[in-house]
Amino acid sequence: KLTLDLTKPGTTVSPMLYGLMTEEINYAYDGGLYAELIRNRIFKNNPAKPDAWSLVSEGDAKAAIQLVGANPQNVPNAERGHAINDALTTCLKLTVEQPGTRAGIANSGFWGIPVKPATTYSASFYIKGAGQAPPPARGGNRPPQANAVPIPVIENNTAGPITVSLESNDGKTVYASGTINLEKTPYWKKYALKLTTQAGITPTKDAHFVISTNRTGLYYFNLVSLFPPTYGNRPNGSRTDLMQLLVDMKPAFLRFPGGNYLEGPYLADRFPWKTTLGPLEQRPGHPGSWGYRATDGLGLYEFLGWCEDAHMEPLLGVYAGYSLNGDHVDAGPLLEPYIEDALEEIEYIIGDAKTTVWGARRAKDGHPAPFKLHYVEVGNEDWFDKSGSYDGRFNQFRAAINKKYPQLKVISTIATKVYPTQRVTSGPPVDMEDEHYYQNSWQMQEDAFKYDNYDRTKGPKIFVGEWATREGSPTTNLISALGDAAFMTGMERNSDIVLMSCFAPLFVNVNPRNQATGEPAGMQWASDLIGHDALTSYGSPSYYVQTMFNNNIGNKVVPVSVSNLPMLHIDTAAINKTLAPQQRRGRQQKPERPSLYYVATKDSKTGTIYLKVVNVADHAENVTLDLKGAGAVASTGTLIELKGDKPESTNSITDPKHIVPVTTSLKGLGKSFSHSFSPYSVSIIKIKTT
Ligand code: AHR
Repeated sequence: KLTLDLTKPGTTVSPMLYGLMTEEINYAYDGGLYAELIRNRIFKNNPAKPDAWSLVSEGDAKAAIQLVGANPQNVPNAERGHAINDALTTCLKLTVEQPGTRAGIANSGFWGIPVKPATTYSASFYIKGAGQAPPPARGGNRPPQANAVPIPVIENNTAGPITVSLESNDGKTVYASGTINLEKTPYWKKYALKLTTQAGITPTKDAHFVISTNRTGLYYFNLVSLFPPTYGNRPNGSRTDLMQLLVDMKPAFLRFPGGNYLEGPYLADRFPWKTTLGPLEQRPGHPGSWGYRATDGLGLYEFLGWCEDAHMEPLLGVYAGYSLNGDHVDAGPLLEPYIEDALEEIEYIIGDAKTTVWGARRAKDGHPAPFKLHYVEVGNEDWFDKSGSYDGRFNQFRAAINKKYPQLKVISTIATKVYPTQRVTSGPPVDMEDEHYYQNSWQMQEDAFKYDNYDRTKGPKIFVGEWATREGSPTTNLISALGDAAFMTGMERNSDIVLMSCFAPLFVNVNPRNQATGEPAGMQWASDLIGHDALTSYGSPSYYVQTMFNNNIGNKVVPVSVSNLPMLHIDTAAINKTLAPQQRRGRQQKPERPSLYYVATKDSKTGTIYLKVVNVADHAENVTLDLKGAGAVASTGTLIELKGDKPESTNSITDPKHIVPVTTSLKGLGKSFSHSFSPYSVSIIKIKTT
């Protein structure tokens, strides 16, 4: 029996409780949310070869492609030029000795280019003809550089038509095509055109993007781009289906840019927010933290636009002088430039457009009004810093941020309860501490009660900045979703202490499987919330739990007491065998756990009660529900139920709606009624009271 005590004043539910955590991992942005369809558009992904690009050579064509410019390996001196600017220093050279039927370059996208009916794509690229522009006359009589190979000034021969198309991989179908006339110039020039597909075609991702010619010549390409329509038609914007999934979650905030992606493997690889701003021509990208290069097309300005589109506020992670491979900058003068950089980043977000340098830069980028910002987190998972420098670094950052922006809350990445010996000990109490949990379902269920015992008087407020039940791959399965839901009942019940939380990671590109591992080739981290390929996407059962919880919540917690709580007995040794060693650390394993988890909140304006109950058992549980102290209770309510037949049940690209919540009306409600909770289910009962 569960008794909801409406006579007691419940604590206030944090309005920021549920948000999103994001970073470039699993091709979450490039090949994911960021709508760009061309992979390796500035040719910097791999200095040894033009990844994702291939030669088109048809009929008796004689043609070749080669990476050239400043950065590629094994490039002759004669081809070390060709930079458009500091950011665009590598390009792709197409040599067509004999065009045959046609010759050109093709891009395979992020495991395919999505082609949809009656859709207009925006293509653009830089191109030039001759090997090098002639040296400027004002160079005078500069002596030749020692060992310099003379650069041949080849007759510019790119003038004339060039064809741009979206084609099936087998080359048999052209979905859309356009022609542009190249000017005869040895200098870089940008061209743009629209490609529109026909209405009747079947959507496919088995397609590629081609630029081709039937003329002999030398052609140099850079910044080749192709965008489909974006969410809200934002230029340089987001993929519509993925944004819609996020908007449907109604998140309160976005934690960005990481995660590990904030830190980078080494100091120089940290998230370079300044070079993620402005025209794409000024974004060189950076190595990223998960084994592939980031374009930074989704940069700081785009993160902020993303927040506005999804009606959430940013929670900014600032680089705090510690990187993944252990480099750290000690507190003191050496840390000052990093602090200055963080202050400038904050100024970009909220500084006045007229009176501050970075506020003016934001205005120039298109947003004169300051964005919203209340939370700044200093670093990420700094408990990995074995030098123990975080206390000093955090305090130096906090003092500077508090001084310039006293309205901001400053979050520490080391949680007192989890890392008592590494936490921040000096200075005033910390505004909020970030706790991370990646565990199996059983552990998450056990942790559903952990916050009930946190210190209400002295204890720090908690931000659960990364957490997930990690069962199922690439996306989570039903038993994960039940673990998530159980844990969320605990956070919601204790949201006077747990002010914010966000599941991680958010996305995974479920591209073709790696033969050796059987996992998607572009996945670095399994058990993610949302899966997508180039064409479609789906939410995991965990995604639907997030959506259910976020969309059905009151502003006051209703205390719930329980009698005769059904228990499940478990074989802890067997469960331990399923855990990765790092998941076992320091756990007190309990041989039994409840089969039901619950929380209730009430909307004090409408009188609606939201009762959430999770049943992790393989059988239904019949429960009497008493509403102590309720006024009138409407006899019909609403049941939103997510359930499945077995723990491993899941969703996928081919079966995206296998486990989804179903809404029905529920009759026979009153001050006391009973309900049978289905096996393996998450239920939300909405009860109208006055
Ligand atoms: O969410 C994946 C990774 O887990 C994050 O980048 C990091 O902060 C954590 O260790």
